[in-house]
Amino acid sequence: MKDHVLVTGGAGYIGSHACKALKAAGFVPVTFDSLVTGWQDAVKFGPFEKGDLLDRARLDAVFAHYEPVAVMHFAALSQVGESMQEPGLYWRNNVLGSLNLVEAAVDAGCMNFVFSSTCATYGEHDNVVLDEETPQLPINAYGASKKAVEEILRNFGESHGLRHVIFRYFNVAGGDPEAEVGEHHRPETHLIPIMLEAIDGTRPALTIFGTDYDTPDGTCIRDYVHVCDLVDAHVLGVKWLQQGKRNRVFNLGTGSGFSVREVIEQSRAVTNRAVPYEEGPRRPGDCTKLVSGSVRAERELGWTPQRSTLDIMIEDAWRWHQTGHYEK
Ligand code: UFG
Repeated sequence: MKDHVLVTGGAGYIGSHACKALKAAGFVPVTFDSLVTGWQDAVKFGPFEKGDLLDRARLDAVFAHYEPVAVMHFAALSQVGESMQEPGLYWRNNVLGSLNLVEAAVDAGCMNFVFSSTCATYGEHDNVVLDEETPQLPINAYGASKKAVEEILRNFGESHGLRHVIFRYFNVAGGDPEAEVGEHHRPETHLIPIMLEAIDGTRPALTIFGTDYDTPDGTCIRDYVHVCDLVDAHVLGVKWLQQGKRNRVFNLGTGSGFSVREVIEQSRAVTNRAVPYEEGPRRPGDCTKLVSGSVRAERELGWTPQRSTLDIMIEDAWRWHQTGHYEK
């Protein structure tokens, strides 16, 4: 029988791509998702179990039914701006929900845990590239909630033998080149899909959040990584744990940073259309620059990004934007 992997948030953007990659690697991805931000239409690669991480009995039933060999935990609220307005939502959903999941996994004897964390746990570090040893000093509630879950995993590792790989993502972009799944948030808050909506007229314009940052062109710099490369690392993470290797943190970024203005310029080039935009004030909680300085994932996991150039990421996102969508 094929190995099941429980994928929380499997109906979301990254989780749905992870399910496709897991299936291609010979696993059976079991999506556990509340559909609060996910889409049932995105569940295409394995069984679906609707449920909320705060519902411990439901989690126990799903673990008992599938006896998964590993958990991939994506389900979370993930908007930096919203986390500054509603921190309670982030602590309840992201931290309490994850604690429930970790306890359910340990009680079910499912000891391989892959966690979706974020470079937002690092916070502001003046003009340095961020490696896994950089101090974690989050400046928004979203980053703080993810950092807290990392601590939970360490504690349960020490006390109960829970084995874990933590991935700290930089900015995830792009989509499945076959456009079976893609990025679809409601409301949308991320730069590239918002820009594509401005390009095709679905929204009047993109607003650049802040042009007075201490960067060469005054706009924030981010390290964009293709979602398909990102989820490939997760499959390697499951195999890493199955091989009995040690608990480990990996940054997932490319080491190249692009400013908001550079992303706008590249989108204009890829789509061959004008990008309507206006300049606005800073968004609370945004860091000036987040760029990954690590080669650990490449060296230790054997991860080699294939599609993480800005033009391919925008091309793939544009294809999905034009052809794919979810209704429910
Ligand atoms: N931006 C704009 N206008 C917009 C949207 C975004 O100028 O309409 C800017 C932001 O200010 C930021 C950059 O584009 O400088 C990227 O913003 P996103 O909202 O696309 O991404 P974030 O960097 O805020 O956050 C994303 C994920 C987080 C993750 C983080 C790591 O949403 O979950 O990347 O950098 F933690």
